Amino acid sequence: MQPVLILFISLFLYSSASPIVPADDEDGHLTVPEIITKYGYPAEVHNVVTSDGYILTLHRIPHGKNMDTVSTKPVLVQHGLLSSSADWVITGVEHGLGFILADEGYDVWLGNGRGNYNSRNHTTLDPNTDAEFWHFSWHEIGAIDIPAMIDHILETTGQPNLYYVGHSQGTTVFYVMATTRPEYNDKIKAHFSLAPIAYMKHMTSPLMQILAYFVGPIDALFEMIGWNEFLPNNELITLAGETLCKDEEVTQELCSNVLFVMCGYSPSELNETILPVLMGHLPAGASTRQVVHYGQEIVSGYFRQYDFGDDNMDVYGSSEPPSYDLSLITAPSYLFYSHNDWMAAEVDVVRLCEEMGDSCNKFLVSEDSFNHLDYLIGMRAPELVYAKVISLMARH
Ligand SMILES: *[C@@H]1O[C@H](CO)[C@@H](O)[C@H](O)[C@H]1NC(C)=O
Ligand SMILES: *[C@@H]1O[C@H](CO)[C@@H](O)[C@H](O)[C@H]1NC(C)=O
Repeated sequence: MQPVLILFISLFLYSSASPIVPADDEDGHLTVPEIITKYGYPAEVHNVVTSDGYILTLHRIPHGKNMDTVSTKPVLVQHGLLSSSADWVITGVEHGLGFILADEGYDVWLGNGRGNYNSRNHTTLDPNTDAEFWHFSWHEIGAIDIPAMIDHILETTGQPNLYYVGHSQGTTVFYVMATTRPEYNDKIKAHFSLAPIAYMKHMTSPLMQILAYFVGPIDALFEMIGWNEFLPNNELITLAGETLCKDEEVTQELCSNVLFVMCGYSPSELNETILPVLMGHLPAGASTRQVVHYGQEIVSGYFRQYDFGDDNMDVYGSSEPPSYDLSLITAPSYLFYSHNDWMAAEVDVVRLCEEMGDSCNKFLVSEDSFNHLDYLIGMRAPELVYAKVISLMARH
């Protein structure tokens, strides 16, 4: 566990955290609906209140630029960890999957899981003062938020079903929904997972390895990364970024951004022009428990609910957390993965697909350097990934 040693040494060498890099490009400061309308597309904002009081925001692009009627083909597009609906528009009109799907004739709904800056609200809890607001992991996003968003979309559009596209944690929450609320499989025409995350035993992200190392002495981990909201500018992340970036040819500002440090990207796929915009929207917020839950997956090798340790018996009625039964997923599913993905290792994706059974089809991205964030920001994502997604969508 060499990164841990490096980190400890760094902890003693550095004393202050470096500041978050300010965005200087306009889109870095605009809201998602402002970006959508700026480029001539229609934008709507919808709020959904979950059964446990979280106020979620959905952003909608109801049709493409040169159309004037709402499409009858809704698609829910769901972001990854520490991200938001902004993911799908901040790379621009030619590149952002939100814009591309709208122009392909889809009614595009961009989801926001509880806790990111677009869904940081609750009917009774204050995210700034009530720790209880942050007592959730991606389990709750999958079991509660995604079904609530789907219900709202189907009710609003009058359609019986929709397409689903997720990236990273956006895929995890799909598997959680489809296994804990299996009746929702019938509401999905087809589901597309970009960089699928269920099993994590073989992931190679150095920062996640460090975090996972501390999942055992869990109090120490919480102490280090914050108890409730996962604060992206905390010292640990800054130090990890500085340390891990040292001997690589990377843009320095990426080294202070937790998302890039944690997930990995391919420098040859990066369009540096849009960096200020990316920095303005990422990271977008999460609970500490979301990160710890992934750490538990790395350590345990299971895809299962949050491990409360001694409290498991009270919460689950068993000493171990229940596993998600992937064989319950019946919605037609397409998994896109790649060889250089720090988070979604090929062997973990293969295992996931096998356990999903007949519903699963998998596609290896033809570019070997493709890494976890390249599904969003990689210059060739439209060509290597989105084009295939769109042609498969047309078959359903
Ligand atoms: C949170 O939701 C309430 C409605 O319950 C609203 O009045 C308030 O403006 C929202 N706060 C934020 C920060 O969006
Ligand atoms: C990089 O991003 C800018 C701004 O969106 C865009 O104009 C340009 O075409 C992009 N370059 C490539 C090679 O994709």
